[in-house]
Amino acid sequence: MSNRPIIALDFSSKEEVTDFLTKFPATEALYVKVGMELFYQEGPEIVKSLKAAGHSVFLDLKLHDIPNTVEHAMKGLAKLGVDMTNVHAAGGIQMMAAAKRGLEAGKPTGNPTPVLIAVTQLTSTSEAEMQQEQLIKVSLEESVQHYAKCAETAGLDGVVCSALEVEAIKKKTSADFVCLTPGIRPAGSAVGDQKRVMTPAQAAAIGSTYIVVGRPITQAEDPYQAYSAIKKEWNGEK
Ligand code: C5P
Repeated sequence: MSNRPIIALDFSSKEEVTDFLTKFPATEALYVKVGMELFYQEGPEIVKSLKAAGHSVFLDLKLHDIPNTVEHAMKGLAKLGVDMTNVHAAGGIQMMAAAKRGLEAGKPTGNPTPVLIAVTQLTSTSEAEMQQEQLIKVSLEESVQHYAKCAETAGLDGVVCSALEVEAIKKKTSADFVCLTPGIRPAGSAVGDQKRVMTPAQAAAIGSTYIVVGRPITQAEDPYQAYSAIKKEWNGEK
């Protein structure tokens, strides 16, 4: 289990990110998530500047293309020094294995290979949509378990999943298979558009490896205080 909750930097400009980070002590090394919204505006430079400031970066771009393209794209992302990144499991075992090769080839000398995880079924996909649009005839849970197993077979470290899926996934994978879970809300905070949420303590209890938290920190009046409280709860501290 990683002791730092990952903060989702769901902003669209470097200025907003810089402004947000001034609310934390300069010495506090954070683990942040950069997604498509920010990356497609600010490009690789945003990752480089976060790394230069001492933060860890999960680059959430969910790659999904032919294996050769994904391998070369991952080689480039690894050169940025990202700590974790991801692909869609629907791209297939060959594509996932190619992604891992790309990360291994591109990582800076002396750095560990970035953690590579897969998206199984998007949590925005319902079972009915999956069955009717993807023509997958099993249950959503079975599809998620199957994709997680494929990710493990391809040599990936784990998956992004709902905290409610962790138990089912761990039944099919090794105990140390990474489950990174968004949809986390401290007790009493606004749920927003998330439908099925868990508290940091609940996520820790069911075996999440990493939690991703966005608005409860980014929209808080005092983001550092909100982050510290979530971190304490996640680590089981009083
Ligand atoms: O603000 P909030 O805590 O809901 O943000 C959660 C973050 O995790 C967002 O960046 C969101 O896109 C991401 N995410 C999610 N559910 C998934 C996958 C990613 O909420 N299944």
